[in-house]
Amino acid sequence: MAGSATVSVEANLLGIDSISVDLSPFCGLMGRVKTFALDLDFKTLQSITKDPKELLEKLKKEKVPDYFINNKEDKKRSYYETVLLAFLDSMGFASRSSSSIDKLFPRVLERYISTIKYFQEARQKLNLKIGKSKILQGSVLNLPIEDDSIDAIITSPPYSFAIDYLKNDQPQLEYLGYNLESLREEMIGLQGRGVENKLEIYFDKMNIALKEMQRVSKKNAPIIIIIGTNDIQTNGVILETKVIELAEKQGLKFELDLIKPIRGLQNTMKNESILFFTNLK
Ligand SMILES: C[S@@+](CC[C@H](N)C(=O)[O-])C[C@H]1O[C@@H](n2cnc3c(N)ncnc32)[C@H](O)[C@@H]1O
Repeated sequence: MAGSATVSVEANLLGIDSISVDLSPFCGLMGRVKTFALDLDFKTLQSITKDPKELLEKLKKEKVPDYFINNKEDKKRSYYETVLLAFLDSMGFASRSSSSIDKLFPRVLERYISTIKYFQEARQKLNLKIGKSKILQGSVLNLPIEDDSIDAIITSPPYSFAIDYLKNDQPQLEYLGYNLESLREEMIGLQGRGVENKLEIYFDKMNIALKEMQRVSKKNAPIIIIIGTNDIQTNGVILETKVIELAEKQGLKFELDLIKPIRGLQNTMKNESILFFTNLK
């Protein structure tokens, strides 16, 4: 439930190897680009992005040009994915503003390139050793990871049904050619009718997710779960209380609940809980 793989980026900056898993293919793309950007050849990026107009014309065709998404073997694929993400990012900005993709794309791409350039300069100055990352598109209900292989887990699952992640990214996912309905079935927090039924399915899925976290992590591994208190939407049900109860049944020892106020969202969600567990095995 890695979202855009912010945790992987932070781990890699500390020299720690990481694996990110998210069901959304758009999150997969964001994660691949963000972690790739930590360790790329800047000259190749510059040469691929020298003509933003031509890139935009290719991307605006009805179907994603094969080059932007396939060619798994091609060394330049990740550079093209960086361009593709700038395009999808502009698509998102355009839907929330009065500006067009044509105007936004060159600006967004330029921002990506300058951010990468500044980062590379900082990286050299600080002599950073970047950890390796694997970005997997998969389900937390059936993790594509071996038993007892992970040193620590940090995750932020959906806060029950607070956000429809697929609807939020619908234009981008449709552009990439994905079927939203088949993803919806597997996605945590998006099934059911009425609060009670939605919560029941949510906790059933969270229980499977916790079991998977218990399976893949090593004995005594810390498992950290960040979860928002959206008790206004859940008719008073406190998500973190139930998550602690389910986790303990799966053999995870509850250690600590660090409460962090969410500024700016106080009407719908007051706090986030950072729950710390240890895997007893
Ligand atoms: C709270 S968001 C994570 C946000 C993240 N902390 C970030 O900084 O971007 C929850 C994520 O869970 C993912 N998700 C929901 N159901 C999933 C499942 N069954 N397997 C894997 N990921 C899932 C969603 O796609 C979404 O990106």
